[in-house]
Amino acid sequence: MKKMEIIIRPTKLADVKEALLELGYPGMSIVRIEGHGQQKGKAEQFRGREFKVAFLPKVKIEIVAKDEDIEAITTTVIKAARTGDIGDGKIFISEMVNAVRIRTGEEGDSAIGASKSRK
Ligand SMILES: Nc1ncnc2c1ncn2[C@@H]1O[C@H](COP(=O)(O)OP(=O)(O)OP(=O)(O)O)[C@@H](O)[C@H]1O
Ligand SMILES: [Mg+2]
Repeated sequence: MKKMEIIIRPTKLADVKEALLELGYPGMSIVRIEGHGQQKGKAEQFRGREFKVAFLPKVKIEIVAKDEDIEAITTTVIKAARTGDIGDGKIFISEMVNAVRIRTGEEGDSAIGASKSRK
C-alpha cells in the first residue's frame, strides 16, 4: 500500500479526477496548496500571464492505493495533467503502513475502496 501525493495545476483537476474515476479510483482527498519548484515560482505562466510571486496555486490530490495500481495511476495522471510547460507538477510516492475503513473495521488493501481490477 502506498500514498501518492499528486501536485497538479488547478486547471487540470477536473480532467485528472475524471481519468482517475475512469480507472476505478474514486477515493481521493483534495488540498488546495501553494508552492514552487525549481523556478521558485517566478516567471511561470498562470492563466496566460507571467506571475512574479513567490508561490503559485496548485492542487494536491492524495490517493492511497495498492502497490500494483501505482504505475497505472501514474500513467493516467501524466496523460491527464501534462501540458509540457514548466509547472506541470509532481507525483510523490511513499509507503503507507495501514488503512482502516471506520464503518466496517476492514484494514489494509480492502479498506482502500477500489482498484483497477474491481472496476
Ligand atoms: N521537491 C519538492 N518537494 C515538495 N514539493 C515540491 C517539490 N518540487 C515541487 N513541489 C511542488 O510541486 C509544485 C509544482 O512543481 P513544478 O512542477 O514547478 O516542479 P519543477 O521541479 O519546478 O518542474 P518544472 O521545471 O517542470 O516546473 C510546486 O508548486 C510545489 O508545490
Ligand atoms: Mg517549476
